[in-house]
Order: sequence, then C-alpha cells, then structure tokens
Amino acid sequence: MSSPNAKLNQWVEEIRELCQPEAVEWADGSQEEWDRLTDLMVESGTLKRLNPEKRPNSFLAWSDPKDVARVEDRTFICSNRKVDAGPTNNWVSPNEMRGTLQGLFEGCMHGRTMYVVPFCMGPLGSDMSIIGVEVTDSPYVVVNMKIMTRMGSAVLEELGPDGDFVPCVHSVGMPLSEGQEDVPWPCQENKYIVHFPEDREIWSFGSGYGGNALLGKKCLALRIASVKARDEGWMAEHMLVSGVENPEGEKRYVVGAFPSACGKTNFAMLIPPKNYVEAGWKVTTVGDDIAWLRPGPTGKLHAINPEAGYFGVAPGTSWESNPNAMESMRANSIFTNVALTEDDDVWWEDLTDEPPENLTDWRGNEWTPDSETPAAHPNSRFTAPAAQCPAIDPEWENPEGVPIDAIIFGGRRATTMPLVFQAFNWVHGVFLGANLGSEMTAAAEGAVGKIRHDPFAMLPFCGYNMGDYFAHWLGMRKRIKELPRIFHVNWFRKRNGKFMWPGFSENMRVLHWIFDRVSGRGKGHESKLGWVPHFRELNFEGLDFSFEQWQELMAVEDSEFRQELLSEAELYLQLYDHLPKELIFQRELLAGRI
Ligand code: OXD
Ligand code: MN
Repeated sequence: MSSPNAKLNQWVEEIRELCQPEAVEWADGSQEEWDRLTDLMVESGTLKRLNPEKRPNSFLAWSDPKDVARVEDRTFICSNRKVDAGPTNNWVSPNEMRGTLQGLFEGCMHGRTMYVVPFCMGPLGSDMSIIGVEVTDSPYVVVNMKIMTRMGSAVLEELGPDGDFVPCVHSVGMPLSEGQEDVPWPCQENKYIVHFPEDREIWSFGSGYGGNALLGKKCLALRIASVKARDEGWMAEHMLVSGVENPEGEKRYVVGAFPSACGKTNFAMLIPPKNYVEAGWKVTTVGDDIAWLRPGPTGKLHAINPEAGYFGVAPGTSWESNPNAMESMRANSIFTNVALTEDDDVWWEDLTDEPPENLTDWRGNEWTPDSETPAAHPNSRFTAPAAQCPAIDPEWENPEGVPIDAIIFGGRRATTMPLVFQAFNWVHGVFLGANLGSEMTAAAEGAVGKIRHDPFAMLPFCGYNMGDYFAHWLGMRKRIKELPRIFHVNWFRKRNGKFMWPGFSENMRVLHWIFDRVSGRGKGHESKLGWVPHFRELNFEGLDFSFEQWQELMAVEDSEFRQELLSEAELYLQLYDHLPKELIFQRELLAGRI
C-alpha cells in the first residue's frame, strides 16, 4: 500500500532507503490491525494480555529500566539560529544534527518492520487540526498512537493528494542482525529527540517511551505547534480543558497549565463534592494535557484538545482520586510499567489502601508489601481512549473548539503560594504564568522535590526562545476580543508536613469562585498578589474548614515572596535579551507591593 499523496509516498521511500527495514506496513487504524499487532507483541513478550474479564482488550508493557521517562537533556530544538531556540533549550545547528541523524538512522531498522502511521492532532476536518505521519519501527508505538490520536486510513483520506503533514521519524535504535534475537523492549542508551522548527520536522532515536516516542504529543502538539502558533497568531499550550456548568445550565470552559504530574488529569476530570452534585453542578473534560487556542467566532479564545486519549501517570490514580480516569481505562487500554496482580490485572501505588499480598513489579520481580522498592515505576502510565471517559464533554470534538473564560496556572508548592488569587489583568496574568514553579516529579529525569521554575508549564515543551514566547502571550491580548481572566492556584501548600487543603473534589470550591468571577458575579478583594476571595465568598458547605485554616492557607508571607523574587531572578537573567520589559515592570511592581 501507499497513499494518494505523492509527497508522502516519496518521503516514506526516502526513509525506507535510509533505515533499511525488512518490511514496510501502512497503519490503517482498524481493529484487525490492533488485534494483529497486540497478538504479535504478546508473542514477542513486549505485552502481556490482561485478564479479559477484568480488563477486556487491555495489555501491560514493561520497559527497559533505562527507558522510563522523557529525556530533557537529550531533547534538541535545532532552529537555524541558536538565539531562536533560546537559552532554555538544547541547540545544535541543523547541519550538524542532520549529519548526526544520518549516521544514527542509516540501517537502524534492520530486521524490523517499519510502520507508517498517519495521524491527526485535533478532530478530523477541523481548521485547527494538524496532520502528521510517524514512521516507526515500534509496534507498541502504533497501538498507543491508535489510542492517543485519530490514526489510520481516515487521516490519509483527509490528507488527500496535496495536503501537508509534519514528518516524524522514530526508531528504537536497535537494528537486528541476521539471526539476532529481539528483546521485549528494544531501545538505546544514546537517545536523541530532535525538532527542526523551521522545517516542522521531528526525529526521535533510541527510546520507545511516552513523549519520546509517541511523537504527536509533546513533540508535535507542543514543540512544533508552539512555533507554528507563534507564526500564525494562535497558542499551543500544555493545558487541560474542562467545562463547568452551574445548576442554572450556564456553562463556562477553563484551561489550566500545571507542570507535569501535578494532578492535572485529576483536575481535568474532577467530580464535584456531593452537595455540589446534588445541587446540579457538572464538570466535564475536553482534554487533560494539551490545548490549542485560537481567537474564535465568539470573540473569545477557543480551545481544542489535539489528542484523542490520555497518557496519564498511574500511581496516585484511584477510584477515590479520579473515578473518571479509572472508568476510562476499564478496557481497550495499555498500561506501561505498572505491577501485575496474581489474577492478571494491574496495580500501582495508592490504587488501593491495602496493597495486594503478591505482585510482580514493573521489573518483573516478585513483590510483597514488605518490598523496599515501589511495585509500579513512579512514572508508570495508562493509555486510555478519551471517548471512554464518563465526564467527556459533549463538545470535545467540536471543530471550532470551545470558548474559554478562564486560564488557571498552578504548581506543586509546599510554601509561599496561597490557594487561589486572580491576576489584576492580562499582563499581570502573563507574569504569573512566566513565574510558574513546581516541585519536581518523576515525569522527567531530575532531582525529585526541588522547585523548578517552569514558565507556563512549557519549559520542556516550548519549541522556541522562551522570552519570545512570553512576548507572544503578551501580544495575544490584541488579537482576542474577549480576554479570558487569569488565575493562580496551589492545592499543595503544607504546614508541619501536612497538606493544608484537601484538594481533589474540593477544588470545585475554587472552580466555583472562578466561575462566578468570570461571570461577573464573584466577589473578591484586592491583595498584594491579585484579587482574592474572602472566607465567606468560598462555598464551604459540606466541608469542615475553619476561618483559621483559611487564613493560614491564604497567608502571604513577605519573606517567602522575597525569596520567590530572588529565585525568579535566575530565569530573568538567563532570558535577559529577549525578556519583554512588561514582565520586568511587573516584577518591580510586585517587589514594591511586598
Ligand atoms: C506528560 C508530561 O507526560 O507532562 O504529560 O510529562
Ligand atoms: Mn503533560
């Protein structure tokens, strides 16, 4: 098979000549293909079939322990000029990198099948969508792409004879010589995740894991799309999208940027507390990770979720913390690096209060509650179809997207940041986004627990100079007729080692205040940080939360903010030559207020 698109056929032929696979197969996205590939991988030991009664049509993969997360130090933005990648990205000149890639990819698919995977980020037929084609030697990638994107023949049809696509080349980087036996999770020590932003091209070598290998997600929908968005006047953001409906049937949509593994999926699928549900409040999910935003027909910013599935962090996800995610992965899902139960189902830390007596851990070793290492890798994942989420928003595939009224920024902060405040205006809101910080988690390699500044939660995902990205955000205010309001939240403040706010469902109370603020009803008062609610302006019905607790949770300690200003200085210095002066001015205003 080939495609009706001559440019695509020619490119596939070039990649075939370079990588020298044993066979080429075009992915059509059918059930037959899914069955065939999953059977193949069960046979080869890459996948285990889970108990069909407990988890129909679902599989477990255990990766090589050297391939368990995104590799930010091996991620490159190869713009023509170094200054366009900026100081927060790894840069190598395109010429040099193309030479390196030539060497790496030559013959890299020996003894393997090369799959050609056409995929669409965003609803098929939407003006906001982007088509990509991933060539990969990993069948695990093919089946994950079927869940995470609109994938297969329908995309080729949409592409037509002269449609354009983002070329994405992926190899696990482990060619097989004649008679060499394969391993369950082939990969390479020497990894390269490479983006050519001007050519809109992606090359990934050596990893089969998540964002390194499912190239539609972080590589295309964030790094390449952010560059395209800057050039075309829209925004590609690391944001969840959800809908909130009040008992009167009034509906508002919000987007939220939170650094990796900050409970973003839980917030996107939040189930309100009992009294809210009884009163008729509803929260629905459009997306849990990425939003593409464009000024839309209503004059507001409109958002689509470019993805079609969830690639969520498993540990911590449970019937208590996120029933909607649990429902989404009841069937037709892939689990990576979680533990296997005795009856062939999955388990991970905090899935149940009591861990099972006997498990096989993610490394394939016997595990009991006395074991010293976790049963599931901290960055283990579930891949589940978005359409299976009970809270999926009826408009989630609307080609025009949904109109956005609020932007929420948040991080995991044990100190300094109160529960919620609202930016004074757009420029102040951009300042809050630029200063976003969070304690590090397992989603990327690095020191867990340390605060890292992660502007707009985009530090690892912005395909161009972060200073120019801030300027783009500032510039968007002239393009949007009805600007969303901007908020900052922190569910993770601690006192004496204990969380001060219950979080999860109870975050609805904060969402309610945000809902009222953007509807012109919510009261608040001005503080040093922005607009904040009074105690009585948050609905605490059904929650035992005292005024004293509230005061502690909302306290603004000048000394902590002085520290915050100092720690922000590092980023400002790093970006100094591209930093918009509005942000420097905002910083001075804040310094003045504290
Ligand atoms: C993710 C991440 O996997 O942000 O979504 O790391
Ligand atoms: Mn993410």
